[in-house]
Amino acid sequence: MQIDRTAWFKGEGFSQCEPTESPRKGPYRLILLGPPGVGKGTQAQLLYEALGSCQLSTGDLFRAAQCQFGPSPALKSAVAAMWRGELVSDTLVVSMVRERAGCLRCRGGFLLDGFPRTVAQAIALDALLDDQGAVLDAVLGYELPLDEIVNRLSGRRTCDGCRAVYHISARPPRVESVCDQCGGRLVQREDDRPDSIRVRMRAYEERTRPLMDYYQERGKLLTIPARGTPAEILERSLNSLGDRRAPGQSQAEPQGAVGRRWLGQLSAVT
Ligand code: AP5
Repeated sequence: MQIDRTAWFKGEGFSQCEPTESPRKGPYRLILLGPPGVGKGTQAQLLYEALGSCQLSTGDLFRAAQCQFGPSPALKSAVAAMWRGELVSDTLVVSMVRERAGCLRCRGGFLLDGFPRTVAQAIALDALLDDQGAVLDAVLGYELPLDEIVNRLSGRRTCDGCRAVYHISARPPRVESVCDQCGGRLVQREDDRPDSIRVRMRAYEERTRPLMDYYQERGKLLTIPARGTPAEILERSLNSLGDRRAPGQSQAEPQGAVGRRWLGQLSAVT
């Protein structure tokens, strides 16, 4: 049986997937952390191919939920918040992840992309992992200068069928606006407009960046420079995971200093 990439969207009880053989020793249970547009989704696809662990993206979950027939009022307001670039409420996010908590004990491991995003969510995840008897291996914390992030976001195109991610210059499709994988139409995400990007960056600085310190203090954070090609960043990620077995690996710059520098640059580049 193959991995059912849509099982995560459907919730507990629907998953019929069987993890593939991992080419590396595993399973790996990882969080991908970093600002919007740093390349977490791109790396998740590549890490999935390298490690066999499933990408579990809360952003994809909300984008899929909006297509459901008759979404609940809570879900409607969550999707509206998402398009404005704001974070969805912790209560709703945690309840949607809790409904899918079975995916956390998958024997193929997992790549959490976009969750947790606040300290409250991280505390909730710790409890869910305890309940499932699963242990987090590491948090891959991706860092990139703000102007490069804005460039990645504004050139991003996403398949409206299979959700594959492209970039108009860095990762163009073979045929303009057509997905290489499924022939679907490539579209620009609603929240990749400049005003939404600005809101998302502020939400990241204020609510998500503190997680870098949260996981640093718990000895889980591996800081990965996100410059270069996706393949180079993948190599860096895999090397960091390899080094993970040696103690004292993370050399992160204090996050408060990085955040202040970012907020100073924000109005100049968006
Ligand atoms: P989500 O979907 O998680 O979006 P995000 O975190 O803002 O991240 P992105 O998907 O924008 O970027 P990415 O880092 O995955 O970059 P990508 O690989 O696409 O969340 C969306 C919204 O949902 C949130 O704003 C919020 O409202 C809500 N939400 C989700 N989870 C939530 C939670 N837990 N709590 C509350 N609210 C939540 O790459 C970007 C572009 O760069 C692409 O075009 C790609 O091709 C290109 N690229 C990638 N790598 C490279 C490279 N090395 N060189 C050149 N180009 C590259």
